[in-house]
Amino acid sequence: MTVMRYQQLAQTLRRQIDAQVWLPGEKLPSLRESCKQSGLSLMTVLQAYQLLESQGVIVSRPQSGYYVAPRQHVPVVHHAQSNLHAAEDIDVNDAIFNILKAGQDPDIVPFGSAFPDPTLFPQPRLARSLASAVRRMSPHSAIANLPPGNEELRRNIAQRYAQQGIEVTPDEIVITSGALESLGLSLQVVTQPGDWVAIESPAFYGVLQAIERRKLKAVAIPMDVQQGMDLQALEQALATYPIKACWLMSNFQNPLGCSMSAEKKQRLVEILEAHHVAIIEDDVYGELYFNGERPMPLKVSSYRQQILHCSSFSKCLAPGFRVGWVAAGAYASRIQRLQLMSTLSASVPVQLGLADFLHQGAYDAHLRRLRRQLELRQNAMRNKILKAFPPQVRVSQPSGGYFLWVYLGDKVDATRVYQQALARGISVAPGTMFAVDDRYRHSLRLNSSFEWNTRAEDAIKTLADIVFGEIERNKT
Ligand SMILES: Cc1ncc(COP(=O)(O)O)c(C=O)c1O
Repeated sequence: MTVMRYQQLAQTLRRQIDAQVWLPGEKLPSLRESCKQSGLSLMTVLQAYQLLESQGVIVSRPQSGYYVAPRQHVPVVHHAQSNLHAAEDIDVNDAIFNILKAGQDPDIVPFGSAFPDPTLFPQPRLARSLASAVRRMSPHSAIANLPPGNEELRRNIAQRYAQQGIEVTPDEIVITSGALESLGLSLQVVTQPGDWVAIESPAFYGVLQAIERRKLKAVAIPMDVQQGMDLQALEQALATYPIKACWLMSNFQNPLGCSMSAEKKQRLVEILEAHHVAIIEDDVYGELYFNGERPMPLKVSSYRQQILHCSSFSKCLAPGFRVGWVAAGAYASRIQRLQLMSTLSASVPVQLGLADFLHQGAYDAHLRRLRRQLELRQNAMRNKILKAFPPQVRVSQPSGGYFLWVYLGDKVDATRVYQQALARGISVAPGTMFAVDDRYRHSLRLNSSFEWNTRAEDAIKTLADIVFGEIERNKT
């Protein structure tokens, strides 16, 4: 069948609209412009536009021209569906990329997102601090704030450690562009390519990617959904492999949400110390506790010089600012050198703005409000899941952070749930994102930080319907 010229033009325009060259609501080139550009007649161009209009891709507005139709189908859904035909084909990177993209789309319910609800943060106050810091910034600031980073900010962070009874000096703190950078730098200073590293299973996908990038070998240590790392398995791994570093989260682990008891943390450090293993401690959710006091990090121990404690303001104050740090103990100057040779430093105005905000003394009041909100929202989502999902489904109950780990039962493949949910405008994080194999294929991670409203409630009901559907399907 020959394709007419107007059809070719329509196909070209459609591809451009799918690729978001032209966004929903945006005006397309006029008929005259399009004729000039394509060398086609006015009649041919008009036919192409009318064809697209009949397909609902564009709309005409009298006396104004043709516009891309308002969005009905979300492109991210389209890509995700075509990329992920079968669970076995999931590449961790693809899935992560799709889920992060889906989280950016306001039309998608972002239960798969790793970011907290952005409306929970004191935006106007942060903006005032940023503006005031930039006004006061001297021409020499860029040099003065090179690694290890802004002194006032480092002192402020050191004071927060001191309030917890943890000995950390401002000199051992290096300010970074988010915890992701501090974790990556830490991994680089304590390993050489080819080394063995102990990690958690399931683990935050950033760990898996960092291990892959650095060409390391990983031993995945099983985690208990409530109590964290299996220490017996860790000891076995240490006896079997020449492990150089252990990367873990002792508080509100991502994705399980579990925390280790103080005794278990102590025992863990003793085991790693006995094997001279450096500890990379990811504590980005430590401030988001619901009960009593901030849980202690491993860094409190006497082995602290070998513990690189990584955290950031991304989860609890200013997600977009991309400011984090590492309290690097004996490794501080090596981290600084590595940073100088890679990203140079975290953004100076943003460091100054955060230092100003912390100096105002409003951080703790904000954190108290934030924790209350997160706890309420977690309860609401959890209760709804318990009511709506099949009875065999199990849901974690973390005492902080904003992730729920949902085990769907061995009849349900979470990747299929993920695909169907995305097609219905809901993102979830399938368990396959958190391991290199598919051992968590029956679980999902849900982000409970978003406002609990009818949209969220309906999305949980939809997820429950999908899960019921999968159970039915697998009966036959
Ligand atoms: C466990 C964990 N560590 C580190 C990070 C990265 O933190 P940041 O945004 O500060 O780079 C995240 C973000 O999702 C995370 O979940």
